[in-house]
Formats: sequence, structure tokens, C-alpha cells
Amino acid sequence: MKLQSALNFSHTLLKQTINPGDTVIDATAGKGNDTLFLANLVGNHGHVYSFDIQKQATDMTSALINKNGCTNQTTVITDGHENVDQYVADEINGAIFNLGYLPTGNHEIITQPQTTISAVQKILNRLAKNGIIILVVYYGHPGGTTEKDQLTKFVENLDQHQFQVLKYQFINQINEPPILIAIQKR
Ligand SMILES: C[S@@+](CC[C@H](N)C(=O)[O-])C[C@H]1O[C@@H](n2cnc3c(N)ncnc32)[C@H](O)[C@@H]1O
Repeated sequence: MKLQSALNFSHTLLKQTINPGDTVIDATAGKGNDTLFLANLVGNHGHVYSFDIQKQATDMTSALINKNGCTNQTTVITDGHENVDQYVADEINGAIFNLGYLPTGNHEIITQPQTTISAVQKILNRLAKNGIIILVVYYGHPGGTTEKDQLTKFVENLDQHQFQVLKYQFINQINEPPILIAIQKR
């Protein structure tokens, strides 16, 4: 077995945790790749709520979802993930965040520590037993290290009796490859 990149490992973890019928969140839709991946995992009887603040991103995501026939199980929302509680009332089985900027878009529009942490906290409040939140943390851009540090401090302080927190990181690579953080509810 080869060690997986943080991005590939995020999909491995989701595949092993998410079941047909589940309710899940793509907190940073971007081009929609994770939304489509989740839509296929939850199937017709589950639901994916997919957020992005940029209409360019939600348009790309909606197009990808339509093309792949997954519209029934997907709601694409042009709003910040920090407002997740205004859209999702159900128990949540899983969520993924890809932090940073949209590679094909404006590199100055980045996820921000305060709104990221607020969204994570709101999802934690609704997380089902064994439910999982995955954060793929890109931090090579301006502002990225601040977000990584604040987020790390937040997750390190989660109560170990309620949550297990994993950090997956290659520590001998240059160019700041992304770090994966996974939080699972006990
Ligand atoms: C690294 S990209 C996501 C890549 C995506 N997973 C994909 O497969 O293409 C980060 C995205 O987060 C979005 N974003 C930034 N702040 C946000 C917020 N508060 N709520 C939701 N999305 C946000 C950006 O607009 C950007 O599209």
C-alpha cells in the first residue's frame, strides 16, 4: 500500500464512514468534486448540502451534479458554511472542508479561521455517533498559516471523551502539502 495524499485519504475516510441514506455537508463546494463524491455515497435516500460563498463555484457544482444525475439528493447553497444551521436541521453523519482558495478563481477569496471554526462547531453540535468531519487544510497561501494555527488550537481542545481528533501530515516535504484533520464523534 502506498501512503495517500491528504486529499485521497479524505475520500478513503469518507467512503468508510458514510452510508446510503446519510445526511452530509460539503462545506466548500468549489468545482463540486467532493459534492459529487458524497452524492454517490449517500445515494437517492440521503442528502448532501453543499456550500460556497462564490456563485461561480455553486454554478460549477450544480452543473456537475446535473450532468451526473444526482440532483434529487443534493442541495447547492450560495452562502457561507457558518450559516449551516439555517439550512440543515437533521443529524449530520459527515462533512468535508477543503480550506484555502478556489484554484481556478480569485486566489484572494479564502476560507477564514473565524467562519471555518464557527461552521465546525455548528456541525459538531449536530454530529451523529461515529459521524466524521474532515478538514483538508491548505496553508501555503497568505492567511493560510493563521487559519491552520487557530483551527489546530480549536480541535486540540475538543473533549476527548466526546471526540477523537486525528492529524495526518507529511512532515518531510517542502511546498507545504495539505494537512488532514479528522474529528469523529464517539
Ligand atoms: C479549496 S476550494 C474548494 C475546492 C473544492 N473542494 C473542489 O473540489 O473543487 C475552497 C472554497 O471555499 C470557498 N469558501 C470560502 N469561504 C467560504 C465560506 N465561508 N463558506 C463556504 N465556502 C467558502 C471558496 O469560495 C472556495 O471555492
